[in-house]
Amino acid sequence: MQVTLVILKPSAVQRGLMGEVVSRFEKKGIQIVGLKMLCLSDEILEEHYSHIKEKPFYGRVKDSMQASPVVVMALKGVDVVNVVRKLAGVTNGREAQPGTIRGDYSMSVQENIIHASDSIETANVELSRFFDKNEIHDYPLHNIQSLYAPDEY
Ligand code: PPS
Repeated sequence: MQVTLVILKPSAVQRGLMGEVVSRFEKKGIQIVGLKMLCLSDEILEEHYSHIKEKPFYGRVKDSMQASPVVVMALKGVDVVNVVRKLAGVTNGREAQPGTIRGDYSMSVQENIIHASDSIETANVELSRFFDKNEIHDYPLHNIQSLYAPDEY
């Protein structure tokens, strides 16, 4: 099983889409093993977006991510990094497929509802950036046989 990080951005919080997005993950059969609301500091954003820090748009990405609290989630499942990226859709909401989270709820590259880790390695780094170890909960799913065949998990 993998665990990945999702951030519900201020665009989701402000538009009242938190429940909608969380519900999509739950209905898919993804286990929520961590969830909390927090305000992102300049420091944590510089670390999280170090790959775009030199881009001309970084300043407005930072302002956007600090427009309200965000919700960070740790999601667990088989191949969950890839599954969540597919559920999210491509970065640009205008180009994301209908049926994906961004395709259904976003018209923007920046205001694109969620962030999702792009690899297992990134997920591990990002989970430890936003969660203490004791905030990620290892608990059994009682309906696991309804989610996977025995040889799948
Ligand atoms: S992704 O989803 O991580 O692969 O997206 P990527 O293309 O690498 O972009 C990284 C984050 O930068 C934001 N972004 C932008 N914001 C404003 N304007 C422009 N032109 C722009 N290009 C990229 C984008 O929302 C990505 O945020 P995250 O949180 O990673 O989804």
